[in-house]
Amino acid sequence: MLIAGNWKMNTDLPRGVELAENIAAGIDEADSTYEALDFAVCPPFVHLQAVGAALQDSPVALGAQDVHAEEEGAFTSDVAAPMLTSAGCTHVIIGHSERRQYYDETDAEVNRKARQARRHDLVPIICVGETIDQRRSGDAESVVHAQLEGALDGVTVEAADDLIIAYEPVWAIGTGESATPEQAQDMHAVIRDDLSERYGTDVADQIEILYGGSMKPHNAHALLSQPDVTGGLIGSASLEAESFLGIADEAAAVFEERE
Ligand code: PGA
Repeated sequence: MLIAGNWKMNTDLPRGVELAENIAAGIDEADSTYEALDFAVCPPFVHLQAVGAALQDSPVALGAQDVHAEEEGAFTSDVAAPMLTSAGCTHVIIGHSERRQYYDETDAEVNRKARQARRHDLVPIICVGETIDQRRSGDAESVVHAQLEGALDGVTVEAADDLIIAYEPVWAIGTGESATPEQAQDMHAVIRDDLSERYGTDVADQIEILYGGSMKPHNAHALLSQPDVTGGLIGSASLEAESFLGIADEAAAVFEERE
């Protein structure tokens, strides 16, 4: 089970380092409670090195929020995979709905980025999810299916060993209105089936499928208790150590109940 924080374009450098330190300290203090869980934080690019240093002795992994599909070159303002790995990143969010919405990122680009991430041993956290209009018109499943198909085209079963899908219904992101546990489970099951068809059940069962969209300490338990929800991608609640660790506590409780 993975609890990952997506800080988006928030925190200045001192505040980001402080947040990382507080998260690392909280996880360290409760280490046996959290032993079975994985954690990551994805700060803005300019914080990566300093946040990485703050996380050095902790089990919290460092992730970025995007990556360019090319190795290097004249792509002003973009960041390449070797830059991320050399800054200590192990994870990278790809195809977040805010990238799709504000930068017209297509499934084909998501696919190129995901393949580039795997070439550099970065674990891509590939985001999929429908808008409210798509859900209302009954197209949610087909939208997510198409996004997966686009994102995973040519991603081999070997590369699939280390990838993560995040189901983030666009209408739940930053709105305070999360999907219900049933809505999340239904879509996660669709995603799991899709992955099984593509990679076989054994591989598909190992792929983490995170839920994202207004996950908070108060609703985390119910969402994470769903059989196909194996973690969370947390936006606003990851900007305070207390709420991020509150979600971690719920995840640990769910994990114990499952054992
Ligand atoms: P939220 O964001 O938790 O603030 O809804 C989640 C995300 O966009 O990853």
